[in-house]
Amino acid sequence: MKLNRILQGNVLDRLKDLPDRSIQCVVTSPPYWGLRDYGTAEWEGGDEDCKHKEKELRNDTSEKWKSMEETKGFQYKKECPECGAKRVDKQLGLEETPEEYVEKMVEVFRHIKRVLKHDGTVWLNLGDSYCGGKRKSNPKQSMNGEKETGHEIEYTPSRDMNHDIIKPKDLVGIPWRVAFALQQDGWYLRQDIIWHKPNPMPESVQDRCTKSHEYIFLLTKSAKYFYDNDAIRERTKESTLQRLNQNINKQSGSYTPSKGNGNMKAVGDLETGRNKRSVWKINTQPYKEAHFAVFPPELPELCIKAGSSEGDIVLDPFFGSGTTGWVAQRLGRKWIGIELNEEYIKIAEKRFQQRELFVA
Ligand SMILES: C[S@@+](CC[C@H](N)C(=O)[O-])C[C@H]1O[C@@H](n2cnc3c(N)ncnc32)[C@H](O)[C@@H]1O
Repeated sequence: MKLNRILQGNVLDRLKDLPDRSIQCVVTSPPYWGLRDYGTAEWEGGDEDCKHKEKELRNDTSEKWKSMEETKGFQYKKECPECGAKRVDKQLGLEETPEEYVEKMVEVFRHIKRVLKHDGTVWLNLGDSYCGGKRKSNPKQSMNGEKETGHEIEYTPSRDMNHDIIKPKDLVGIPWRVAFALQQDGWYLRQDIIWHKPNPMPESVQDRCTKSHEYIFLLTKSAKYFYDNDAIRERTKESTLQRLNQNINKQSGSYTPSKGNGNMKAVGDLETGRNKRSVWKINTQPYKEAHFAVFPPELPELCIKAGSSEGDIVLDPFFGSGTTGWVAQRLGRKWIGIELNEEYIKIAEKRFQQRELFVA
């Protein structure tokens, strides 16, 4: 197996090229359901000169196309309403319903299970979306709400759909739907880590809180697995140490004597730190070349450090701009990426030539 490589193509096909139980750690962020179009669709048949090809972007508001957009979800249509061309697309995330998306994810993860070592871990990042109601993109704002920094965000046009249960304005709950489906398919669902983003996307909502978190699910194949908790310990706060080191027996005031136990058993000290908590506060970092959300390097770094040792192989089956591979390489791991879009592979390759990941 060739390592430190990006395999171009559909994840479902390319995973078949990897040997059984060869991967120690998977860190990935698949396309979220209904969030954005990664531009990999091709049209078959129809009229060569028809405008449908250039109308792929959903922020196209030209008059002619607008009427089609009003047919709702035109960008997901499998057929051009004007010339009858068929839209063929292997990308994930544009399924018509959450159920279809979940089904696809379960299928991908069956392949991942085959290539994952028995004691391997999967760190799956997923975000949620709302049903109905469209958020307009605002190209003048960056992810952290500042004025243009060169990174345009295509905001979620939340999905309109006819669904038995999910109503317009409902949170779809995609991350948990996927997590439970994977659990049902045999995965151990070990943890829901909250990725707290102190610089969330601005939202104009006034009847709920601004969303500032996503999930990272820790999934394993076996009950026992490789997890290096020491590699990601947190610094213990000075105030916590003082509290932990106090001698309760020598204190006056009301306390239950039987509970006095000398110095409380130190949960951590300044040198070793404390076990990593399940809320990770990490700023998003816009990257101007990629028109999609890229990992802030700290995120895959934590997953890779806890989930592998030097020399192990780390896989990201939705490689995008390659943050996982880049970080893995810096940490002395080997890596493999899978990516459908050839343009993103070029971006990833360019990034690998840079010393720093976020060069303006
Ligand atoms: C959220 S992005 C990943 C970003 C990445 N974590 C980074 O730091 O750059 C998801 C990626 O999945 C890719 N993708 C979508 N469908 C795919 C498929 N069927 N097979 C392989 N890659 C796919 C998209 O092209 C996109 O680059």
